[in-house]
Amino acid sequence: MSDAAAISLAVAGVSKSFGGVRALADVSFALPGPGLYGLIGPNGAGKTTLFDVIAGRQIADAGRVLLDGRPVQGLRPHELAAVGLARTFQECRIFPEWTCLENLLFSLRPKGLAGALGRIVTRRATAAAEAIRDARRLLALATLDAYADMPASVLSFGQRRLLEIVAALMGRPRLLLLDEPAAGINPGLLGVLADLIRMLHAERGGLFLIVEHNMEFIMGLARHIVVMHQGAVLEEGPPAAIQASARVIEAYLG
Ligand SMILES: Nc1ncnc2c1ncn2[C@@H]1O[C@H](COP(=O)(O)OP(=O)(O)O)[C@@H](O)[C@H]1O
Ligand SMILES: [Mg+2]
Repeated sequence: MSDAAAISLAVAGVSKSFGGVRALADVSFALPGPGLYGLIGPNGAGKTTLFDVIAGRQIADAGRVLLDGRPVQGLRPHELAAVGLARTFQECRIFPEWTCLENLLFSLRPKGLAGALGRIVTRRATAAAEAIRDARRLLALATLDAYADMPASVLSFGQRRLLEIVAALMGRPRLLLLDEPAAGINPGLLGVLADLIRMLHAERGGLFLIVEHNMEFIMGLARHIVVMHQGAVLEEGPPAAIQASARVIEAYLG
């Protein structure tokens, strides 16, 4: 896998419809290097669909996704993982009955293996000492080290979100897509979450693209923000410019 110090993501003319619903309408933007980036927009703007296209879960009707200038649309999720892409899901996907450590190690499994077989392979094949060390280090960063050997079901909702984020970082992705990491999180934990994301980025590098509904949260975190509205890019720029944009304010109020 190449160096996280050199990563760029470009979306060029991506469109996607579901029946009559035009979820993405000619979306283009370029994120030229490592950093923390935000992707915001009202509900239904197309943010998750765009993540699904970038991550190979949905096939675009038109347009291209370029990683380091190379087209990657059409690659399967496991092929994208091999070139350094990882993501989290809006609805938070972890395995509650597995231990926190197993949840992290599972993200390194040979792709396609799920269920009991995936768990066995995880334990035997991928539980190399180095992977376990890395997993414990990530759990510590997320202040979850005390829960390493407990089932993830003992975690609070907010802690599960932290677990999902650090699990996505196993395998050292260069491009990390976070879909509404702050959704449903207790306001008292938002600062912890923002600090964790900053710390993980400082330690691991790479390009983090964060979909977020909570404006205050993302404005304090990202250095550059892309705003989507009705399937298209409405505006992009540094947080201060986005907050001052009449078009953005109108889209959120309208
Ligand atoms: N699998 C799907 N089937 C049908 N419509 C979908 C599907 N996924 C998303 N949509 C529609 O596409 C639009 C964009 O949705 P989404 O990407 O989830 O928006 P966001 O994440 O910004 O809230 C919405 O109108 C949504 O209902
Ligand atoms: Mg969404």
